[in-house]
Amino acid sequence: MLEDIQDMYRNHPLSSAIRSLRYKPHVRNIFYGGVMLTILYALYNSVRLPESLSYDFPEEVTVPTPPHIWDERARQVKRAFLHAYHGYERYAAPHDELKPISTGYKDNFNGWGVSIFDSLDTMVLLGLEGEYERARSYVEKTRFELAEHTFVPYFETIIRYLGGLLSTYALNKDPMLLSRADELAKKLDPVFNTPSKLALFGVNPSTGEVVGPDIGILAEMATLQLEYTYLAKATGNRAYWERANTVIKALSSADLRQTGGMFPIGWNLTTGQPHDAHLSVGAQADSAHEYLLKQYLLTAKTDKANLEMYIRATTHIITNLMYISPTRHLLYVTDTTTPTHEARGTPTHVFEHLSCFLPGLFALGAHTLPLDDLDSMGVNFMDLGAKGNFGRAGDGYRRLNSYNLKELHMWAAEGLAQTCWLTYADMRTGLGPDETHMRPSVRSVHGEGHLWMDSMDRWKQSGARGIPPGVGDKTPVIYTEQQRLRGGPGGRDYAIKKPGYLLRPETIESLYIMWRVTGDAKWRERGWRIFEAIERHTKTPYGYASIKSVEVVPPPKDDDMPSYFLAETLKYLYLMFTNDDPISLDKWVFNTEAHPLPVFEWSQEEKVLFNI
Ligand SMILES: *[C@@H]1O[C@H](CO)[C@@H](O)[C@H](O)[C@H]1NC(C)=O
Repeated sequence: MLEDIQDMYRNHPLSSAIRSLRYKPHVRNIFYGGVMLTILYALYNSVRLPESLSYDFPEEVTVPTPPHIWDERARQVKRAFLHAYHGYERYAAPHDELKPISTGYKDNFNGWGVSIFDSLDTMVLLGLEGEYERARSYVEKTRFELAEHTFVPYFETIIRYLGGLLSTYALNKDPMLLSRADELAKKLDPVFNTPSKLALFGVNPSTGEVVGPDIGILAEMATLQLEYTYLAKATGNRAYWERANTVIKALSSADLRQTGGMFPIGWNLTTGQPHDAHLSVGAQADSAHEYLLKQYLLTAKTDKANLEMYIRATTHIITNLMYISPTRHLLYVTDTTTPTHEARGTPTHVFEHLSCFLPGLFALGAHTLPLDDLDSMGVNFMDLGAKGNFGRAGDGYRRLNSYNLKELHMWAAEGLAQTCWLTYADMRTGLGPDETHMRPSVRSVHGEGHLWMDSMDRWKQSGARGIPPGVGDKTPVIYTEQQRLRGGPGGRDYAIKKPGYLLRPETIESLYIMWRVTGDAKWRERGWRIFEAIERHTKTPYGYASIKSVEVVPPPKDDDMPSYFLAETLKYLYLMFTNDDPISLDKWVFNTEAHPLPVFEWSQEEKVLFNI
């Protein structure tokens, strides 16, 4: 075949022209060599995947990508959004979510068209006028009603529906959106009918009937402060502020002696006090920790209780829940079983994709707060640990007090973001698993594991040279199919516990914040690699589908396209690639479903109304 091609080119008119120039033979050979390489490359590409996107994680980009390429990448995300949303509109609207393989639909969040509400502000940001107008006219006539004895899940309804309405209102000031938000919140209000006035699990918006166990879940009862505070400010209705304040008061007056100043997952909705000592930053807890910082930022740093709670929670996370793996030194955060008087809770060493919002939160806090000068905000770090009577927690404060807290939070952010990214880069699909089980020690999969702060203290004692433990770039460990089938040769420091990628946003969200806060383009390039993997492995003719395993190529898919893919995953990707900064982290605060709300500017009347 090579000779055929050489002959073809010898007989080509251009070749004879070149020959006629009487190049020396070796020059001619270089020319033919170049032509051959071009042809081979074209042949090679034609037998690979149709998209030019496909490659298996080459070395990281070292030449800066020019701005016009980033614009093109942002346009590709916009096209991905249109592909997903048009599939939804065509096959599933006005039901909740599209089934992107069978073209069916799901009504898993009230059947009011959650994908429409969740997408509104993304459409405004992407400038999609036609789609937005169609969505708007649907929103205008939605009836927030349910059949008797069925219930809206309160938390999901707040973050997706109310969050979508309020954020879009903040962006375009369409009064219809605010009045729909107001109406929805009023219909959900019976959910607060508990002795503590903390929300139950669910409510029927038509009858006011409520449902849910006496023991509430942290994330579900403490993820409404941003939405309700903004709603109070936008409508001037103080009652919504009271709802948010109830949560803030319960959290700040809770007895946290069992848990070192951090909020556990279970709460007694009669007393408004913690019920257990199960500590996590992942499922059932995540956004409650997130809202401590974000509520402080949204209210233009006027609500000091939230600041103090944020510093307490992160201090406990850093000193007790962050570990480092034995060989690759992967920094990770895990959850603990309930502790006793003597010992802290036992770490499970499970690392959840959901926890990958945490590096972004640490970075946002380090970016917006003077963590290295807390006195300037009237906060004494050591007092925070001592005043609350948090048992053993005082040790943690003494420990962190010898560091520059801002620097330490940024290292925590970078190290965790590295691990979140590596769980993607290690996989043949380039997408990360939903849960991993970290190997705590070299010898076994059991054992105590190494607390990050122990390594940090050793590093500091030995002169603090170079990059701190767990923080730097690491090389991916990609198994071949044969290696995977044999159970993997090891070397990753973790096993995969849940192998699916559910189109989740958390890692992308943190890469986005790392990019904005540090200005280091490596985070943005990694975001691009993830987008390429999403295009390559999750796209269907009708939308995008969750995949069952990130380790298998091509991955088997699930018939599922969650609304958060439109609200969060694609929004953060777009914001990461566009050269504009339409949602500055200094002026906006994202709710936990990536719906941005503007940082408040308080008027004098509002300060009186809200007791600021
Ligand atoms: C919640 O607290 C109340 C009041 O102390 C108590 O009577 C109730 O048993 C607690 N609920 C649970 C499930 O522990």
